[in-house]
Amino acid sequence: MTNQRVLAILSVSLAFSACAGPGAGVVDPARAEASRRNPFLDVNFFLNPEYVENVEATAKAFPAEAETIRKVKQYPSGLWLDSIAHVANIPLWLDEARKQQQASGKPTLSLFVVYDLPNRDCSANSSAGELTIAQNGVARYETEFIDVIAAHFNKYSDLPIVVILEPDSLGNLVTNMNIPKCAEARDVYVNETAYAIRKLGLPNVSIYLDAAHAGWLGWDHHRENVIKVFKKVLKAAGGNDAIRGFATNVANYTHLYNRDGMALESSDPCYNELVYAKKLTVGLADHGVRNKGFIIDTSRNGKGQIRKVWGHWCNIKGAGLGERPRAAPEPFIDAFFWVKPPGESDGVSDPSQPRFDAECGSNESAPNAPQAGVWFQSYFLNLVRNATPPL
Ligand code: BGC
Repeated sequence: MTNQRVLAILSVSLAFSACAGPGAGVVDPARAEASRRNPFLDVNFFLNPEYVENVEATAKAFPAEAETIRKVKQYPSGLWLDSIAHVANIPLWLDEARKQQQASGKPTLSLFVVYDLPNRDCSANSSAGELTIAQNGVARYETEFIDVIAAHFNKYSDLPIVVILEPDSLGNLVTNMNIPKCAEARDVYVNETAYAIRKLGLPNVSIYLDAAHAGWLGWDHHRENVIKVFKKVLKAAGGNDAIRGFATNVANYTHLYNRDGMALESSDPCYNELVYAKKLTVGLADHGVRNKGFIIDTSRNGKGQIRKVWGHWCNIKGAGLGERPRAAPEPFIDAFFWVKPPGESDGVSDPSQPRFDAECGSNESAPNAPQAGVWFQSYFLNLVRNATPPL
C-alpha cells in the first residue's frame, strides 16, 4: 500500500470520527461493525441480587417447593429504568456486575430496559409514566434521564450492556392513533427514541428497539407500518447500523412455537412469536434493514392456551416461565431472555387504586395484583409451578 493511500484512508477515517458520535447523523465504522455481532455470545449474564432476594423470600415462604423455586436464582432478568429516580440504581447494579465479571473472568452482560418516554403507556394506564409532553417531558427525558444514563454507561466501558428501548411505544404509533395521548406522542416517540439511540450508542452498548409481539403487530399491514416507523427512527438516529436489533414479546405471553394464534386471531399470519420474528426479519430486509438480531422475552410464555383473548396482557392466569435465557437459540434470534422479571406485576387489579387499568381486572387476569413492577408472590409461585420446560 502506498503512503498516499494510507494517508487518504487516514484522512477519510479521521473525517468520519470527527463527525460521528452522539448527535451526529453518522454511525462510526467500529460501531457499525459491532452492530452486526450478537452481544449475547460468549458472555455470562449479570444476576441482580435484589431479584435473587425476592426469589429467596418466596422459597422460604414455601418450604415444600423451595428447591425448585431456588433454581430461578441462576437466571438473569431485565433491569428496568422506569423513572428518573431509578437511574441511580445503575452504578449499584454495574458495580455488582463488575464484581461478577471479575470473579468469573468472563465478560458479564447486563440488560437494561429504558422506559420513561413522555406520555408513556399511552394506550393503557397501568404503566403510565411520570413525564408528560404537556409538562416539559421532552426536555426532562433528555437531560434528566437519557443523558444521565449515558454518562453512567460511559463509566463502565469494560462491561457489555444491552439496552431495550421503550416497550410498546412504537407499536402504539401503529395501532393507537385514535387515542389522544398517543396522537400527541406521534413525533415525540420517534424523535426521542432516536435521541436515546444517539446518546446511548456507546462502544460497549448494543441497542434493540421494541417491536411489540405477534398478537399486536403480526398482521401484514401492521408489520409494514411498524417497519416504516422503525425506518424513520433509524434515519434520525444515524442509520440502520445504529442499533443491533429488535426485542419482541416484552412483558407479554405469546408462545414461541405453538399455533395459539390460529385459534385466537385466524387472520393474523403470525401465529406464534418465532413466526413473527421471522416475518419481521424478511420485511425489514425488503426495506434495506439487514443483519439484525432479535431478543424474545420468554419470561412468561412457557405455557400455551392460557388466553381466550389475545389482546389480554395483564398478569394472565395460568402462565408459566418460558425458555431459559440463552444466546442464539434459533436463526435470527440473538437471545431468549427474561426481560420482564418473572414475578413482578403488570398492574394493580383493585379498581380503586391509582393507575388501575380495566385489563388488570379482566377475567383472565390474576386477582389481588399489586401495582406494576411490584413483587407479586403468589403469581411468581404459579409461574414456577407452570414452568415449561420445567425448572
Ligand atoms: C412497570 C415498571 C416495571 C416493569 C418490570 C412495567 O410494567 O411499569 O415499573 O419496572 O414492568 O416489572
